[in-house]
Amino acid sequence: MANSTPAALKEHDKVSGKTKISIVGLGYVGLPLAVALARSFDVIGFDVNEGRVKELRHGHDRTMEIDTPALRASSVRFTTDINDTRDADIHIVTVPTPVDEEDKPDLEPLKGACKAVGPVLKKGAIVVVESTVYPGVTEDVCGPILEETSGMTSGVDFYLGYSPERINPGDKVHTVDKIIKVVSGQTEQVTDILADVYGKATTGGTYRARNIKTAEAAKVIENAQRDINIAFVNEATMIFQKLGISAYDVLETAGTKWNFLNFTPGLVGGHCIGVDPFYLAHRANEVGHFADLILTGRRINENMGKFIADSVHENLNGKSKILVLGVTFKENVPDLRNTKVVDIISVLREHGHEVDVHDPLADKDEAQQFLGIDLIESLSDLSGYDSIVCAVAHSVYRDLSPAALEEMIGGEGLLADVKGIWRNTEFSPKIKRWQL
Ligand SMILES: NC(=O)c1ccc[n+]([C@@H]2O[C@H](COP(=O)([O-])OP(=O)(O)OC[C@H]3O[C@@H](n4cnc5c(N)ncnc54)[C@H](O)[C@@H]3O)[C@@H](O)[C@H]2O)c1
Repeated sequence: MANSTPAALKEHDKVSGKTKISIVGLGYVGLPLAVALARSFDVIGFDVNEGRVKELRHGHDRTMEIDTPALRASSVRFTTDINDTRDADIHIVTVPTPVDEEDKPDLEPLKGACKAVGPVLKKGAIVVVESTVYPGVTEDVCGPILEETSGMTSGVDFYLGYSPERINPGDKVHTVDKIIKVVSGQTEQVTDILADVYGKATTGGTYRARNIKTAEAAKVIENAQRDINIAFVNEATMIFQKLGISAYDVLETAGTKWNFLNFTPGLVGGHCIGVDPFYLAHRANEVGHFADLILTGRRINENMGKFIADSVHENLNGKSKILVLGVTFKENVPDLRNTKVVDIISVLREHGHEVDVHDPLADKDEAQQFLGIDLIESLSDLSGYDSIVCAVAHSVYRDLSPAALEEMIGGEGLLADVKGIWRNTEFSPKIKRWQL
């Protein structure tokens, strides 16, 4: 139990505009959070990526979460020097938590962030983890590192908290300032402070989890549950393909029942849903439980890109020239991390097809550097394709006219519609169509 008072409370009686908050890691999660908290608090944002900090200082957010006027209007200060966060009452850690090549949790960025924060931690400060982790990481991994690097004792000289992030990249409705924020602290008093702090950043209110491990577990099952539900729909889709039935037609029909869950088939990429279940499975394994359903769901979803590419291949007449529309991990975001469209592209190429890729949102250099894919610049004046595979439902693709699409495939090629965006679009009868 605590025997000193968190600085955020001691100095100001309750949190106030003077409360100093540092955000450690300014990506998809950290930046919107920093901007939301800066409406009520003194916020400094720290990131190890100098390029990112430079861009943010110039008002440019390449993740497209915060537009330039909002970024310029915000009082958040940006730094690459952790010493600038020394006087923070609360440090909020929002660094990546990916998996390694063996799908094991890679906690190195999180450990690195703790090693950076420890030496600048002031007495009574709170360190809140927001990164998605398995139950136990905040107290059993972060706590000891912070103790070692600060020379102080967790729960006595400084405090831990966990508050999972629930935002969904590209979702402009469920934004960080509107959704219910789960908070948890090492002591009741810490939870009170975090409820107060986050309560000022969101109109959605806060939910006090019973303890830190509960909050960590809740976050990780939110995403594991989605993954499993999508895996079920993907498996059903594979069956329906063999039966010559459209999964979308089946889902639309089943969806008329009041308690049928609304999930659609497709690729599961990105930084969260395709990754977090492995965190839970890893922890399960450590305590002697094999996470059968969770890992089966992962396997089915991981296989979806190959399934789609094989299905498209079966619908083509020999070696073909194919245009893939979209390479980001989901629609209307520039995020390329863990995109499964690469599986479609590589399997199509393995089948001997020539594949061009277009994506107006993806950064051309990042696509080349991280995926080895050269994006074509523009869709205008394209022709000579045997097939178009729409892999990502970007709005720009929904807006393409049937005439423009038909022209690209010479009036008689194959339109493969992975996301079902052209289900209700009329095309010339000469156009061959494939969908899930
Ligand atoms: N992206 C999402 O929509 C989302 C939603 C919910 C939860 N999450 C979780 O939030 C966490 C962050 O995800 P993200 O999408 O914002 O990642 P991101 O890659 O967009 O951003 C992370 C930032 O942290 C920086 N960073 C890395 N190591 C650092 C260190 N040691 N010190 C300081 N900065 C460091 C990186 O340079 C980067 O700018 C992850 O755990 C993720 O699972 C993400």
